[in-house]
Amino acid sequence: MAKPSPSGRPVFFGLSARLLLLTIAFVMVAELLIYAPSISRFRKSYLEEAVSQAHLAALALEATSDATLGPDLKDELLFHAGAHAIVLKRPDRRVLMLSKDMPPRIDLTVDLTEMSPVRWLGGAFSTLIERHNRVLRVVGDLPRDPAVMVEAVIDETPLRQAMYDYSVRILALSIVISLITAGAVYFSLQWLLVRPMRRITGSMARFQEDPEDEMRIIVPAARADEMGVAERQLAVMQRDVRAALVQKERLATLGAAVAKINHDLRNSLATAMLVHDRLADIDDPEVQKVTPRLFNAIDAAVNLCRQTLNYVGDGVVKGERAAVELRGLALDVEEALHMAAEGDPRQQGVFDLAWKNDIEPALTVEGDRRQLVRLIENLARNAGEAGAKTLTLTAGQTGGRIILAVADDGPGLPPRAKERLFQPFVGSARAGGTGLGLVIVRDIAKAHGGEVTLVKSDATGAIFHIDLPAWA
Ligand SMILES: Nc1ncnc2c1ncn2[C@@H]1O[C@H](COP(=O)(O)OP(=O)(O)OP(=O)(O)O)[C@@H](O)[C@H]1O
Ligand SMILES: [Mg+2]
Repeated sequence: MAKPSPSGRPVFFGLSARLLLLTIAFVMVAELLIYAPSISRFRKSYLEEAVSQAHLAALALEATSDATLGPDLKDELLFHAGAHAIVLKRPDRRVLMLSKDMPPRIDLTVDLTEMSPVRWLGGAFSTLIERHNRVLRVVGDLPRDPAVMVEAVIDETPLRQAMYDYSVRILALSIVISLITAGAVYFSLQWLLVRPMRRITGSMARFQEDPEDEMRIIVPAARADEMGVAERQLAVMQRDVRAALVQKERLATLGAAVAKINHDLRNSLATAMLVHDRLADIDDPEVQKVTPRLFNAIDAAVNLCRQTLNYVGDGVVKGERAAVELRGLALDVEEALHMAAEGDPRQQGVFDLAWKNDIEPALTVEGDRRQLVRLIENLARNAGEAGAKTLTLTAGQTGGRIILAVADDGPGLPPRAKERLFQPFVGSARAGGTGLGLVIVRDIAKAHGGEVTLVKSDATGAIFHIDLPAWA
């Protein structure tokens, strides 16, 4: 019967059914291999029996005083021996012959002393396939006295009939044996393999429907075999998946909360900045002393808000894909950064940074312009903040990829930053830094199917390579 499988497709021809048929087929093949030698053995025995019957009849003839018989008795002896003629040759050259009046012509001589199994095999099959009766002369010696030769001339048809009967018996036996074997194999496989396999696939399907339901995790059977291992592994995997899902949901909630807090915080910070500006106007030495510290604190908080939002956003939002000309993009970022840093003593380094834009105008990246702006901005800010004087941008295309190289002549990354490269919130080695800049760079590169690598960082500066898709 068709059972629905977990994938929704019905299992018409399951493992068990296939195994059943295969077992039957294998047993039948094995029986066939046994059949060939046994049918040839059967034929040989039959012929030996014919010779020994002939010998008995010859002995009866010998027992008469002059070795002559009346025609009735002769026919009867031949009839009982199932032969047309019988010849007995003694070692002393005495020959005894018993024959019908008109013995038939001999078609084939079969020598029982023949040793080759292949010949016997061939003989057996030639008897089986022969359509007409052949007259066989069977020649053999006596097992007890090999010097005595006996010949029996017999018909082949009774032999063939006996061989047919024998074959039918073998066939029936083979069918019974293969059915019993196949049944045994079927039930043991069903028990050992198919049933536990169904349990595993069933559990997978149930788990897939609702991975967060703990009750759907498989309870592994206490088996020591491979199935037991598979069940235990599945249980571990389901537990891990479930934990990861729960974790993911919590993180998503947390992300949403962070975004909301950020939003409200920015409003508060804008107000605080306004108050700061008012305070800065007050001509009081005490107030003038504290306002720069207040400004720094607010500025760090604003940066934290901005970077956290970028970080959360880049992780979730899939950017749009458009042709972005790299050289122009870098020029825009340079201008924007310059303007943003102007007149701000804390951003002096970023303001002073000289840009050396060596990107060829033709190079065009396929990507999200806003994200790419953020990528270059973060790298440039880092260089400026680290005290670099010049930022050199170059790019090269190989196949469908473009490598953007951003090099500076600053002091290189401090060990703390290098050790925690690309780790959110902990990679910062700078006062007021959030440790998100490089993580954002990496996330953006990844969102473009690329990667960012720090290829050099020493006292003469740092070089980052960003691998991006070229616009085709
Ligand atoms: N070009 C560079 N030269 C020297 N040090 C660098 C350079 N780029 C990054 N760093 C170091 O790596 C650290 C991590 O940089 P990242 O941009 O991730 O965080 P951040 O700049 O501290 O904070 P923010 O999130 O505001 O960018 C920096 O604090 C800095 O010490
Ligand atoms: Mg930074």
